[in-house]
Amino acid sequence: MFHQLQVIKDQIEYRYGGGVIKNHSTAIQNGLFDQLTLVFLNPNEFSATQFSKYSLSAILDYLQKTHIYYLEKCLNEISLSLSVLTYKGDYKKYLSPVLQHAFTTYISELKLHIDEEESDLFPYIRSLINAKESGRLEFSFEQKLMLINHLLHHTDEPEKKLRSLIELLEDKKEHFEDQLALNVLLSKLESFERDLLVHAKLEEQVLIPKALELEKEVLEYTDF
Ligand SMILES: [Fe+2]
Ligand SMILES: [Fe+2]
Repeated sequence: MFHQLQVIKDQIEYRYGGGVIKNHSTAIQNGLFDQLTLVFLNPNEFSATQFSKYSLSAILDYLQKTHIYYLEKCLNEISLSLSVLTYKGDYKKYLSPVLQHAFTTYISELKLHIDEEESDLFPYIRSLINAKESGRLEFSFEQKLMLINHLLHHTDEPEKKLRSLIELLEDKKEHFEDQLALNVLLSKLESFERDLLVHAKLEEQVLIPKALELEKEVLEYTDF
């Protein structure tokens, strides 16, 4: 339990720059860090109200840092663990291309999902935050629909694809020679799955509702 807790803390800290965080991060100061640690231990106990007290800016910052963490660290580590798997007999010939293909497809879909959020949704939310301070908001009608659209169409496809990959590995367990290497990969995938689950819930249940509230507030005192 203590080991698991430390691993989770390290994973969260990494996104904020590791050890440097202790000196300057508001995420630690305002308790968001501890709240995230608790929910990583039990993702099914996630409740939006636990996170609603944190500022929209802090939630957005965490989600953006998490995208970078996925793309620059998690996926590379998983890919490395996948490449060192060893297979029994002829199974390398059949199983390795299937796994590589499943993982490559998964990565490109996840990247697409992240790209869409980074290029449209997150900048719009950032402009809402800035508008509250400056009193000016510049956006198009399409952007105005973005929050609702995102909420309606936010897909759990990345989580489902990841689950299928985990199940495929578990199903073919006996065909791998090095069970330790397989278990290392499975535990990385399961930890990534928990991380994604918390991430998606934060986007759907905290980020978008808070952004909608702010949008309403900002539109009341801008000329739109
Ligand atoms: Fe995201
Ligand atoms: Fe998302």
